[in-house]
Amino acid sequence: MIMAKCVRRAYISIVAKQHSQFVCRQCGVAQRRWAGKCPACGEWNALEERVVRDAAEDKHRPLIPHDEEAPAVMRLADVRPDQMRRYSSGIGEFDRVLGGGIVPGSAILLGGDPGIGKSTLLLQVCHSLAHTGRKTLYITSEESLGQTRLRAERLMGEGIKAQRHPPRRINCGTEGEGDGSAIAQSDMLVSAQANLDVIIHTIQETRPEIVVVDSIQMVYRPDMTSSPGSAAQLRDAAARLIWLAKQMNFALILVGHVTKEGAIAGPKILEHLVDCVAYFEGDRFHSHRLVRAVKNRYGSTDELGIFEMTDGGLREVPDPSKMFLSEQRVSRPGSVVLAACEGTRTLLVEVQALCAQSVFGSAKRKATGVDAGRVSMLLAVIEKHAQCVLGDQDVFVNVVGGVRVHEPAADLAIALSTFSAMTNRCLPTGTVVCGELGLGSELRTVHHMRQRVSEAARVGFKRFLLPKGAAADAKRKGDAAIEVVACEGLNDAIRELE
Ligand code: TYD
Ligand code: MG
Repeated sequence: MIMAKCVRRAYISIVAKQHSQFVCRQCGVAQRRWAGKCPACGEWNALEERVVRDAAEDKHRPLIPHDEEAPAVMRLADVRPDQMRRYSSGIGEFDRVLGGGIVPGSAILLGGDPGIGKSTLLLQVCHSLAHTGRKTLYITSEESLGQTRLRAERLMGEGIKAQRHPPRRINCGTEGEGDGSAIAQSDMLVSAQANLDVIIHTIQETRPEIVVVDSIQMVYRPDMTSSPGSAAQLRDAAARLIWLAKQMNFALILVGHVTKEGAIAGPKILEHLVDCVAYFEGDRFHSHRLVRAVKNRYGSTDELGIFEMTDGGLREVPDPSKMFLSEQRVSRPGSVVLAACEGTRTLLVEVQALCAQSVFGSAKRKATGVDAGRVSMLLAVIEKHAQCVLGDQDVFVNVVGGVRVHEPAADLAIALSTFSAMTNRCLPTGTVVCGELGLGSELRTVHHMRQRVSEAARVGFKRFLLPKGAAADAKRKGDAAIEVVACEGLNDAIRELE
């Protein structure tokens, strides 16, 4: 209580000694008034509002509150490590993205396109946390409390029950619940608020362990003249909430909509402020949603959480490899199964290619789910080393299910599927491939090969085409059912086509 008063007093004194100035994004020169054109460098629309405080007060506002009594410099060996005890959010896939759970005092940014499922996921996370006895505060700056309640009822209510095969619930009620009664008794706290001062006051009053702000772009500071969502408002609101989170040791989850260029600034400008950044991937035309960590001070990045959007909210996907492969496992020309690695998990995905005679002068190349530049390079390798003319062909490459594969391990799958589409030959049914292609068409080994082979064996595949360098110890003891085929270059893999 005493601490809360101190925090409030410190905050009020900071607010009292501040004024606005307008800083040019281009040259950094500060002006007292806003202008359409920077008087110093002449750049248009570059002045951003910043709140400046007296230098004497600024020492109270480091991003991480410092121990005032600690010496300025000390031996690393003498520093007492922070207690970092994670706790589970109750949703395995979300914990995986965060590197094993929520760290108290950490700030997490969850970004994604509007309508992709950020609010749905966080409402489920909050409910799950509240259910395990954690004091959870969900602040919505976009919806009313009534709307939030309606959505919550939909999440735990009829939608789940209507499933023919009840999915693994991630909304974490006790067994047998799922009729909406879990919500009525939920201890999760909600607040519909967009004014930053009021939000800070609410947090100081309620002293929660987890705070979700959905979305940070709608939160505004009334003493700043720029509109909510502008870069200045966004940066300032996030910095103050993060500072409060570090000081009061609660975990803060900020939601940011990914926006195109416009009046609302995107979550990118907050990435350096927070401890963990996760983005929703996937599109609204597919039911699955991927949540990928792109920055994590408390765990590895590139971790992937896989969910499926259902009538009753998001649910975890227990066996993602099966989800991304097409239903009928019969080989077709232009289709190759790839063992991709995302963080610590292996996914089997189908890479498809189509070659069609080009009608207009320059041939089209379109890639979905893989890097278009990489595809161009691989087409050149095929032309040069596999004697296959593609110059008059439109080439389309697609990863089925809307998954994005970033790693070079997809090279062999892209090249083989294109060659297969061009020559109308296909790989024998039950074959998986993986490997990076060099410009000389040589195959290079990639990381986690044993894990990839294991996953392919588990899902029931019979053959694995991989680089020769990785073949020696690619199999684990239990993977006897799968045959490993070592290939030195692209042409060795092409010989496997029937
Ligand atoms: P939402 O979480 O509101 O998106 P965001 O907060 O990222 O803007 O997601 C809403 C979308 O998800 C909306 O198009 C409807 C769909 N949805 C379902 O399919 N099932 C559900 O149970 C819920 C709550 C939403
Ligand atoms: Mg939302």
